[in-house]
Amino acid sequence: MTEKVYILDAMRTPFGSFGGSLKDIEVDTLAGMLIKGIIERNNIQPDQIDEVHLGCCVMSVCKDVTGSVIARQALLKAGLPVGVLSSTIDKACCSATEAIRRGYDTIRLREAEIVIAGGAEVMSRIPHIARNLRWGMKLANFVLEDPIFPLQYKDFNPLAVDAGEVGLEYGESREDLDVWAFTSQQRFQEAEKAGKFQEEIMPVESKDKKNNTFVFAKDEFPKANTTLEGLKKLLPIYGSPTVTAGNAPGLNDGAAALILISESKLRELGLHPLAEIVAIACMADKPKYIATVPGQAIIKGLKMLNLSVDDLKRIEINEAFAAVPLVSSKILGDFDEGKVKEIREKLNSNGGAIAIGHPVGASGARLVGTLAYELRRLGGGYGAAAICGGLAQGDAVIIKV
Ligand SMILES: CC(C)(COP(=O)(O)OP(=O)(O)OC[C@H]1O[C@@H](n2cnc3c(N)ncnc32)[C@H](O)[C@@H]1OP(=O)(O)O)[C@@H](O)C(=O)NCCC(=O)NCCS
Repeated sequence: MTEKVYILDAMRTPFGSFGGSLKDIEVDTLAGMLIKGIIERNNIQPDQIDEVHLGCCVMSVCKDVTGSVIARQALLKAGLPVGVLSSTIDKACCSATEAIRRGYDTIRLREAEIVIAGGAEVMSRIPHIARNLRWGMKLANFVLEDPIFPLQYKDFNPLAVDAGEVGLEYGESREDLDVWAFTSQQRFQEAEKAGKFQEEIMPVESKDKKNNTFVFAKDEFPKANTTLEGLKKLLPIYGSPTVTAGNAPGLNDGAAALILISESKLRELGLHPLAEIVAIACMADKPKYIATVPGQAIIKGLKMLNLSVDDLKRIEINEAFAAVPLVSSKILGDFDEGKVKEIREKLNSNGGAIAIGHPVGASGARLVGTLAYELRRLGGGYGAAAICGGLAQGDAVIIKV
């Protein structure tokens, strides 16, 4: 018999802008702060944690900055016992959801009782690359590469190109993308004014230019003064037909984590969960079609549960670009105009990554946490959080509050 798996708590740091308030904090330090913060908030003792799984898909390869076993380094920095098992997971933007899947599986299979799962990324610290220095250069210009300019996978298009082209293929024009981006910014502002992010955000200490300590407590990427007219004026990036800096997420910094716990342990400790994870579904498709996979993954998860999209009270789909929630919602609504409209009303109701930001390895856990708190505010129900990642992988986490 497998165990039921619950989310005891979900927390994240505020998300920072590229070169913003978190740019001087190493990714394992940031993740360590969050692990310490989330276990303290729940009065969980360090020796009660069995495993830590963290997504980190860009910073984990930058050994010159931090070393490459971020989860292990972070748990040691957080003061967890040396015997706690860990894994650092790179599945591109699906890294945190894959980390959650790992924790979900080990608890289901009774290999663990309490697991921390999430992810962290500090994109501001991605170093430039000097490829030809190791064996010396005889006669050549020295080139310093920026690995995120543009953001793309070797041998494939920049992600902004694929998202824009597939968006057009599914009937999502530049104007549609800008309208969605504007909505995302507006929804975020309304949610923030209503204090909706307070439960999920753990303020962190950072240092300013003069080395003075300050408390970083609010997301700094959202652009409150966004207008549709302003968005329309922006030029497309990297040769994309429709994607601009205004309808794309940023290159952001942040960490997000969940405490996962078995039903038996929950009962033993007399704790109240935030949500239950009822299914996790993964998909992959042709590399260009990143915009479609979150929708496909949600459909797969719903089938596993014998539910339909109408049973979902809220949906989170990562705004890797505006085209992603737009295309995925069309797939979820089976291209029925009325149904798609209904789905979009319950989709990213507090704004998405275009406003909040997208620290790639962390976003999946942010989506699940944001979803769980929103469902709780609504009095409970089912919800799905889905994300796309490198070359059209997609994960959906379905929860019940
Ligand atoms: C899009 C991207 C290239 C922009 O980087 P950038 O140029 O450093 O971004 P900036 O914040 O300077 O924005 C560029 C311009 O757009 C403007 N802009 C951005 N958002 C805007 C908004 N909501 N309204 C109006 N103008 C906006 C900025 O003001 C800036 O204008 P300026 O050049 O006149 O100063 C970068 O954020 C990126 O690569 N994002 C995609 C990340 C990604 O692919 N993630 C993975 C997804 S799977």
